[in-house]
Amino acid sequence: MDVTIFGSGYVGLVTGACLAEVGNTVLCIDIDPAKIDLLNSGGVPIYEPGLDELIKSNREAGRLRFSTDAEAGVRHGLFQFIAVGTPPDEDGSADLQYVLAVARTIGEHMDGYRILVDKSTVPVGTADKVAAAVRETQAARGATVEFDVVSNPEFLKEGAAIEDFMRPDRIIVGTDNPRTAELLRALYAPFNRSHDRLMVMDIRSAELTKYAANAMLATKISFMNELSNIAEAVGADIDKVRVGIGSDPRIGYQFIYPGCGYGGSCFPKDVRALEQTARSLGYDPQLLHAVEAVNFRQKELLFKKINDYFAGDLKGRTIALWGLSFKPNTDDMREASSRVLMESLWAAGASVRAFDPVAADETRRIYGERADLTLAADAMSALDGADALAILTEWAQFRSPNFATVHGKLKTPVIFDGRNILDGRLANAAGLTYVSIGRLPLRPG
Ligand code: UDX
Repeated sequence: MDVTIFGSGYVGLVTGACLAEVGNTVLCIDIDPAKIDLLNSGGVPIYEPGLDELIKSNREAGRLRFSTDAEAGVRHGLFQFIAVGTPPDEDGSADLQYVLAVARTIGEHMDGYRILVDKSTVPVGTADKVAAAVRETQAARGATVEFDVVSNPEFLKEGAAIEDFMRPDRIIVGTDNPRTAELLRALYAPFNRSHDRLMVMDIRSAELTKYAANAMLATKISFMNELSNIAEAVGADIDKVRVGIGSDPRIGYQFIYPGCGYGGSCFPKDVRALEQTARSLGYDPQLLHAVEAVNFRQKELLFKKINDYFAGDLKGRTIALWGLSFKPNTDDMREASSRVLMESLWAAGASVRAFDPVAADETRRIYGERADLTLAADAMSALDGADALAILTEWAQFRSPNFATVHGKLKTPVIFDGRNILDGRLANAAGLTYVSIGRLPLRPG
């Protein structure tokens, strides 16, 4: 089938590459010529495991093309995926200008029936706005070409996006038109093999499902982070509590890891946007507000622990950071906890020596060259001349360091583990104090 994808960002590229891989002919459109040039010369603008190879092989097979020519895009696909960004407005609500611009482009150039598929995470009611934008643009040129708008939210996890697309937990199709539902079912058939995971529902429920899923997951994390602070206060160990409650299948072991807060492109933005939607309709969403507030406080926690440890004396000190991305296997630093910590350390007059396996370039892009930031070539050299070590991202390679080497390099033998990934007793055995989340500090001896 012929598919057009508007927006060659994270969601657009993964969707395009995976749909091409199963035999569709996919044309990806983006307004950024630099991005399209890069893709056409074999580059990939984002880091996602497996995506480079998938794009390369499908490009070479002629099933995946990239262009800035929006008109050609509208002519190409029966399916017109909208996968452009919905950045937050000042008040936290999703900014729809890019989504609606694509809708108008489609309305302007469509010469036959098209299915507009909303992949971007958009507030409830957006499909109606997309349809209105198409109708208005058609009316302006005196056309009345038939179309449908479908809400088909994505549930990709960064770092596992290809796997998530190829073997989805569910495929949500929001439409009021049974014929359109069948066409989407055919498009998704290769990803819906072993048992039927495709759910057809009304458009508004589909739009809300995406927000509900992310808000629920964010709630689990904030709940555990709140509990971890209570655990510390009462002298309990949150890790024991986590295992204790996770054994109840109604609670489950997944997504109940406390830490230094959630980041990324989805949770913070979507929780805020859902809160904003509720408020705009006159409902006060107290739980969503608390989920966000707890996360905000949690991101400041590591700085507080470091500052307390050094009795407020951080000026001139150097703190080593392991991990900069908001989670492992990505270079994405949107809303990353590392940024809150680095900015607090700088404000207190400290310097940062950081190492991340893939996010160094992204860090340079965000912060530029500055005297109080050094990006080290590997984890151990980040410790050279550092007073203490803080761990921000649970990259696998940080999980069992040589504690004797760490001890030898740090001026003050202390580790602040924001993801609870180390074995504190091993750190103690090497003479290091181990400060983590939701547990009292473990001191050697
Ligand atoms: C998330 C959803 O998982 C995905 O379904 C949705 O489509 C987009 O948003 P993503 O943002 O890629 O995906 O990351 P995810 O792996 O869910 O992690 C989000 C954040 O939560 C990370 O900062 C992670 O460190 C944190 N987290 C996760 C915790 O602090 N504790 C946990 O138990 C799980």
